[in-house]
Amino acid sequence: MAGKAFTPRVFSGIKPSGGLTLGNYLGAIRRWVDMQGQGLETIYCVVDLHAITVWQDPAELRAGTREVMAGLIASGIDPERSVLFNQSRVSAHAELAWIFNCVARVGWMNRMTQFKDKAGRNAENASLGLYAYPALMAADILLYHATHVPVGEDQKQHVELTRDIAQKFNHDYGADFFPLPEPVIEGPATRVMNLRDGSRKMSKSGESDMERINMLDDADTIAKKFRKARTDPEPLPDTVEALEGRPEAKNLVAIYAGLADVTPEAVIAEFAGAGWGRFKPALAELAVERLSPISTEMKRLMADPAELDRLMARGAERAEAIARPILAQTCEIVGLLR
Ligand code: AMP
Ligand code: TRP
Repeated sequence: MAGKAFTPRVFSGIKPSGGLTLGNYLGAIRRWVDMQGQGLETIYCVVDLHAITVWQDPAELRAGTREVMAGLIASGIDPERSVLFNQSRVSAHAELAWIFNCVARVGWMNRMTQFKDKAGRNAENASLGLYAYPALMAADILLYHATHVPVGEDQKQHVELTRDIAQKFNHDYGADFFPLPEPVIEGPATRVMNLRDGSRKMSKSGESDMERINMLDDADTIAKKFRKARTDPEPLPDTVEALEGRPEAKNLVAIYAGLADVTPEAVIAEFAGAGWGRFKPALAELAVERLSPISTEMKRLMADPAELDRLMARGAERAEAIARPILAQTCEIVGLLR
């Protein structure tokens, strides 16, 4: 599609359920901070409406939303330079999502692997919201005419679906209105794996806390988790290619690279031939060095929930100012009288 040129604009979101992990930090938040410095308009959202697609205790949802907001600011998202808010404060997200529910096809939704993973064997009992979730995500992005979406590898399919929704909307209504956004999946750690099982993603919701690093973990906990992380008996190889077929080793090298902000090749150059007795303590030390200033700052921010709420409300006002005219034009195109 030829398409008109859209001003580059960045949007991304993160769920407030279950706290932040090292996967969120390396796969998403680090990239969000980088993009903030590139002269682009950046919009970042704590997606509470996505969280409730699975059961959330209301008090924990409130606390989690503030905690993630604190985590984003502590990691370097500047609420002045970026638009930073929580999703439910801008009702246009839910309104556009409804329109997109009527654009997206059931067949498209049925191909979403995250739904299949999350609903598992008991899909009949999953919420309708969990099934429709990707249409809400498309609304989040397209409500701002965002062109770039920095995410971890697991969200690629959802951003592609967003493009499909934009394209079908534009086609059906004969309007070149929504951009086709690009997923931005960059850096050495776009898919951080579980520390106990290198074939599974590190997630907030895994059964055992030992399988993930939380941003609020203290130094001893971080060291213990890396010490107990599953590995194979071989030392580190002297090429990155030789990590293939060694998922746990590959993951720890990727984590080191992500934290040090270097390539996996550079990590291998430094540690070729090293055993785990040398590599794991070095990794733990680096992780503590990077994460502990962030968790200290997070705790400081979390001690003042009123200030976090004020920042979210202010961010939502700025988001609303961008979103409202785009929603109004969408309604106009669709033929909804307002
Ligand atoms: P979520 O916590 O599921 O809302 O994810 C928020 C962002 O973090 C998304 O961009 C995800 O792709 C990213 N993310 C979550 N877990 C990981 C992981 N294990 N590795 C890399 N990125 C991740
Ligand atoms: N679905 C994303 C996740 O689970 C979170 C998300 C919601 C998002 N809306 C978004 C990410 C818009 C990028 C853009 O991680």
